[in-house]
Amino acid sequence: MRFLAYSLSSLFLLLYLLYLHELSSGLASILNVVDTNTQFIGHNAVDNAVVHNAVDPPPCALFFYGLAKRVDLTLPSTFSKIINKNPECTVIYQSQNVTHTSTPHALWDSESGVINYDALYVHESPTFKIILTGGDTGESKSFPSLPFLLSKCCAPGYTDTSMSNLHKSWESLETLLPFIDNYETVGIFRNDVIFIDEVDIFSSDFAIPKWGSFKGFNDRMFYGTKENALKWAGRFDRLREFDGPILKGETYLKWLLRDDSSRIDFVDTCFLRVRVDGRVKENDCRATNKPFDPHGPRVTNDEHVII
Ligand SMILES: *[C@@H]1O[C@H](CO)[C@@H](O)[C@H](O)[C@H]1NC(C)=O
Repeated sequence: MRFLAYSLSSLFLLLYLLYLHELSSGLASILNVVDTNTQFIGHNAVDNAVVHNAVDPPPCALFFYGLAKRVDLTLPSTFSKIINKNPECTVIYQSQNVTHTSTPHALWDSESGVINYDALYVHESPTFKIILTGGDTGESKSFPSLPFLLSKCCAPGYTDTSMSNLHKSWESLETLLPFIDNYETVGIFRNDVIFIDEVDIFSSDFAIPKWGSFKGFNDRMFYGTKENALKWAGRFDRLREFDGPILKGETYLKWLLRDDSSRIDFVDTCFLRVRVDGRVKENDCRATNKPFDPHGPRVTNDEHVII
């Protein structure tokens, strides 16, 4: 759309300038006014490739990662709030190749149920790529090993299952790294959430949510430049250097990005996790246990205050 709009406006401007040239003998003063524009338009008009490069936005991509538990519930807002708001971006949708999931030992919310990607595959196209990884294929990643993570276990409220889930989510991010490298601007989102707010991935170089930080940084979403994305998504490279007392997704991310905090935009963007049985974590973006009210106040309590 953007390309089309620029092309059309360039065309009209060019026609207008040709028209002015026709009248040039009698309209010397007007030609003086448009002379600066003439140079720009004229240059582009001679070389189509230059026109294309000048107006085509740099490549961008929207990544969705993790274990897509209920695509029937999550895809509608994924399209309306994210994909349709960044229509020029390629979509790369990763999930684990599993047919069911079960986490009976998680302290705060066990879940169990069937995974079905039928509603996802309907959208597969050259600009909507689907990548299933790990899971039943037995694919293994060597770094960081799960035993290493478990040796750091466990922060209060964490269990072996939480660590294993963290490990899987990092594996998903690792899968995306070579793809991220192909785009200049990217958004990286969990694939098991209902989006409440719209996101324009060009609105920041380095955005992460300001809520759900749990004395660290929220580790569930990023958008911005490729360089920052690679750092955010490739975070496990530095795990062996981590010297914080408590290894959790959030505390580790805050440690990793400690020198970048001043240039991070901590954004309000809200999205709610969905469990495999269809429960929606309605208090995800707020401090209280009340159900989420899109018009109500967002998270404000100390636990979520950054730095
Ligand atoms: C998913 O795993 C099954 C084996 O459980 C395998 O047959 C299938 O090819 C895998 N699909 C993808 C897309 O990797």
